[in-house]
Amino acid sequence: MPLLYALRNDLQLNGPKFGCGLGQCGACTVIVDGNPVRSCQMPMSAVGNRNVTTIEALGNTKKMHKIQQAFVDEQAVQCGYCINGMVMTTKALLDKNPKPNDTQIKEALAGNLCRCGTHIRILRAVKRASGQAA
Ligand code: FES
Ligand code: FES
Repeated sequence: MPLLYALRNDLQLNGPKFGCGLGQCGACTVIVDGNPVRSCQMPMSAVGNRNVTTIEALGNTKKMHKIQQAFVDEQAVQCGYCINGMVMTTKALLDKNPKPNDTQIKEALAGNLCRCGTHIRILRAVKRASGQAA
C-alpha cells in the first residue's frame, strides 16, 4: 500500500493530495528524512522508521508556517490542489538552502505541476518565504 493511502485513509491526514498516482504531479508530496517524496510512490514497506512530515505539521489557518503565509500573501493559490506539494517541496528546499535564487527555486519545483498556472506567484511566494524581495 502506498504511504499516501495510509496518510489519507487511515490517519485522516488529507493535506497530501492524490493527483496522478503515478509520481508525475507532486500533489502528494511529503517530507521523508528531510527530502521531498511522492507519497503515492512510496510503499509502506519502505517507510520503516523514517521520519515522515506532512503539511499538517507545518501550520494551520490560525497559525500558519511562514511558507504558508507567504503563499497567502502572494495570492499564489487558485484551486489549491497542487499547493501541498509546492509548500512541502519549498519546505525541504529552504531547510537545505535558506536563500535560494530563482534558478534553484525553479529546479526544486520543476516536478510539481500546477494546472492553474500560478507558477509566477508561487516563485514570488518562495522568495518571500525566504526573506528575499521578489
Ligand atoms: S499523486 Fe503522487 S505524484 Fe501525482
Ligand atoms: S493552484 Fe490549481 S493546480 Fe495549482
